[in-house]
Amino acid sequence: MALLTIQPSGKTVDVAAGSILLGAIMAAGETIAHKCDGKAQCGSCHIFVQEGRKTLPRIQKLENEKLDALVGVSSKSRLACQTVMGEEPVTIELLSFV
Ligand code: FES
Repeated sequence: MALLTIQPSGKTVDVAAGSILLGAIMAAGETIAHKCDGKAQCGSCHIFVQEGRKTLPRIQKLENEKLDALVGVSSKSRLACQTVMGEEPVTIELLSFV
């Protein structure tokens, strides 16, 4: 288990390593869009990983291709539906502009 902090609410939840962030965010009671149901096709689950980026598995081809097509992408960007929680604490930010 590792601590996931969700901004801007500041809510914290324990998440099992190997969990998909999208599901963990929704299980925490936060609202996040997921129009393609986690297939890396819509980009609506775009988040920023503010802390702990290096503890997460690397971005894979499918996620990278979708991120390339989105507006407002930064080095902190991930798709929540493609990001697997690791063993270390992570802080993410839900984006209002998505
Ligand atoms: S839910 Fe569509 S890209 Fe993540």
